[in-house]
Amino acid sequence: MCGIVGYIGKRDAYPVLIKGLHRLEYRGYDSAGVALISEDKELHVYKTKGKVANLEQMVSQHDVSGTVGIAHTRWATHGEPNDVNAHPHYSQSESLALIHNGIIENYMLLKQVLLDNGYTFRSCTDTEVLVQFIEYVKKTNKVDLRHAVQIALREVIGAYAIAVVERGNPDQIIAARKSSPLVVGIGKDEFFLASDATPIIEYTDQVVYIKDEEIAVIRRDEPLRIINLHDIEKTPEIHTLEMSLSQLEKGGYPHFMLKEINEQPQTIVDCIRGRINVEGTDVILSGVLDNRERFLNAQRIIIVACGTSWHAALIGEHLIEDLCRIPVEVEYASEFRYRNPVIRPDDIVIAISQSGETADTLAAVELAREHGAFIYGICNVIGSSIARATDTGSYIHVGPEIGVASTKAFTGQVTVLSMLALTIAKYRQTIAPEYYRELIGELSSVPEKMRRVLEQDAQIRDLSKIFTYAHNFIYLGRGYNYPAALEGALKLKEISYIHAEGYPAAEMKHGPIALIDTEMPVVAIATTDSIYEKTISNIQEIKARKGRVIAIVTEGDTIVRNLADYCIEVPRMVENFAPLVSAIPLQLLAYYIAVNKGANVDQPRNLAKSVTVE
Ligand code: G6P
Repeated sequence: MCGIVGYIGKRDAYPVLIKGLHRLEYRGYDSAGVALISEDKELHVYKTKGKVANLEQMVSQHDVSGTVGIAHTRWATHGEPNDVNAHPHYSQSESLALIHNGIIENYMLLKQVLLDNGYTFRSCTDTEVLVQFIEYVKKTNKVDLRHAVQIALREVIGAYAIAVVERGNPDQIIAARKSSPLVVGIGKDEFFLASDATPIIEYTDQVVYIKDEEIAVIRRDEPLRIINLHDIEKTPEIHTLEMSLSQLEKGGYPHFMLKEINEQPQTIVDCIRGRINVEGTDVILSGVLDNRERFLNAQRIIIVACGTSWHAALIGEHLIEDLCRIPVEVEYASEFRYRNPVIRPDDIVIAISQSGETADTLAAVELAREHGAFIYGICNVIGSSIARATDTGSYIHVGPEIGVASTKAFTGQVTVLSMLALTIAKYRQTIAPEYYRELIGELSSVPEKMRRVLEQDAQIRDLSKIFTYAHNFIYLGRGYNYPAALEGALKLKEISYIHAEGYPAAEMKHGPIALIDTEMPVVAIATTDSIYEKTISNIQEIKARKGRVIAIVTEGDTIVRNLADYCIEVPRMVENFAPLVSAIPLQLLAYYIAVNKGANVDQPRNLAKSVTVE
């Protein structure tokens, strides 16, 4: 949540910062702002409510010169999204400007100290308190900016990634982090700063990930210095990025979401590459292989996640219990971290997170660590906080996901969980060798089957037109397809703002069936599986009450076709991996309904992709 960018070097800073903000807009788009230091060492701050495009329009009449600057795109926490609450924030004397991603929890306390000392405030934000406090510390201790930031942050409780610039000093940016991500890009005679590597990759692939309680002293024509809050100097660890620029472009698609939906046949190939052998007879997930004893002895697996990743976790529960016979519990990270859960040293905790930055999931990982559990991460963003905080893990390798609604990350997560379950089952000998090989064959067939579903794009687009103005939707599934139903409903509500609920099909009769009438579209996932007949009965119950049924069925199905109002066919798939194909038509249906409504598909209102606040 909130994206921050910084630049210092020989180029004009403004275009670099604006481009960077566009790349980070998925992190929030309530307001945008920039602070630049011009040739004459003046500090200029421009900021406005709304998206980065609004900021560009606003600054067109202003001086945007300068080769150093910082910029911000906001997802509001404290204070409504308006011009005043937008970042950067000035200090009292307007000599400092600061941008911030995170939440300062004790800001009321700090604000009182400042009010008692005659400071006044323009905004309602915790961020303004922080910049004022840094200036207060700087003045009272008579220290330079780096020391002032260091001393001030020792008093701060909460999460932050910050960058500060100072009037009269065009040669320096001071940045720091705790619990919110921050990356420094090292170019030739220039430095870049950002919440993630996407604004940096265009210029350099050499990056340093700033760690918790570290301060980056970024000075023109000097090497990068990393000093922690307790004044210990660290050697910067330089990493080489693997990402490519083309992965960050729309590649001819009208939206990132549609591009990402269509990428799935390839992202699954990338996800399984090097993990399923070329003969298609074995799965090797190195994180499991290297910790074989842990998995052999595990008494229980707890999976923690949020949002779409939580839906993938529910599928993981089915897979692991079914194939490995280890009890699994799935927890919302935000609940788990605050409810004094029982965590034992022989538990394995799996944390699933696309961004690897979700604050609640990260906190759940830390809690599990305190209790001595072994922690396995399933992340997409390489080098992200959760990936680094876990003992080991597997990246899903689906490439950057830009659309706020998660699509290819979901199927990547389910694919990794499938490989994880197969690997553990093999070691624990809870799966017959022939069945193990059969399932590997099925998993390898997923990309081709996804391709066949994607060929029905036009048909799904036509279907979407019938339901554009529905006010509610129900999504039903059973077994492995129940989490797929939850995910389908989440996709629709996120991007089209239509109320949608996912439900286990058989639970309908315990309440929700009362909602069924001719106005209620019901999406029923009724692919051929061990409970197919039961699902058919549930569809019959809906039809008896005149509900309109859109069914996702297996190719060649005739029974459901005779019952449902509309059918979308997906290739036959063993039930363990069914959500990998049944998810695709649900993603496309949600996408086209949102497009028909004219909604901003890639940046839905009130949402952000990387939720770094709890
Ligand atoms: C936000 C995103 C969702 C995502 C969830 C968890 O709500 O909009 O798409 O599923 O966070 O994010 P994570 O990065 O931890 O998977």
